[in-house]
Amino acid sequence: MVKRTILAAPSLLSADFGGLAGAAAAVEEAGADWIHLDVMDGHFVPNLTFGAKTAADLRPRTRLPLDCHLMVENPEAYVKPFAAAGADYLTFHVEAAVHGNRLIQAIRDEGMKPGVCLVPGTPVCFLEELLPEADLVLVMLVNPGFGGQKMLPSCLEKLARLAAIREERGYGYLLSVDGGVTEGNAGHVIEKGADVIVAGSAFFDAPDKAKAVRTLKGL
Ligand code: DX5
Ligand code: ZN
Repeated sequence: MVKRTILAAPSLLSADFGGLAGAAAAVEEAGADWIHLDVMDGHFVPNLTFGAKTAADLRPRTRLPLDCHLMVENPEAYVKPFAAAGADYLTFHVEAAVHGNRLIQAIRDEGMKPGVCLVPGTPVCFLEELLPEADLVLVMLVNPGFGGQKMLPSCLEKLARLAAIREERGYGYLLSVDGGVTEGNAGHVIEKGADVIVAGSAFFDAPDKAKAVRTLKGL
């Protein structure tokens, strides 16, 4: 059996927004792999966070890749600003994009890695045609908008299906999970096929962040 590398991507959504640079430094010091930025527009989800300027301001303050998760309507409008900000991964919701293939290409043309994401109520078949083109598939395990929610276990079946499809068809995407991942359930999520573990509250509420990162990575 090939041992997969599991990456931890703490979400700054659970950080103190008054000190985002310090939060990014804490993520890096704890040994995490990526920084997950939750971009919410108050329309696609009922909450509002930050945009490309925040990503741009964080860019020179960390060596970690910026994993940007767009929970927005009209994601096309965010491609150039996030490319200019220095985003590494740019992930959009398939529910918000009619022309998914075009958007994936636009993200790649701007030098970023395209990711596609689906909410708990959206079936895997909704993004099936995009899978050969995607570098990352983000499976929401909660309804997006807020940190600190409880994982919906039914979403794990979608994760397992996406892992099986990747294996069968030889696709190259990373499988990322987002929402309700804790030190207690990370091992189970990894067993189901996750490569990237996004965690907000499980990281920022942890007294020992380095230990939290190791546990979230299944180490
Ligand atoms: C939810 C966001 C998540 C969120 C996860 O809408 O996309 O990234 O920060 O937070 P936790 O890990 O606390 O569920
Ligand atoms: Zn997210």
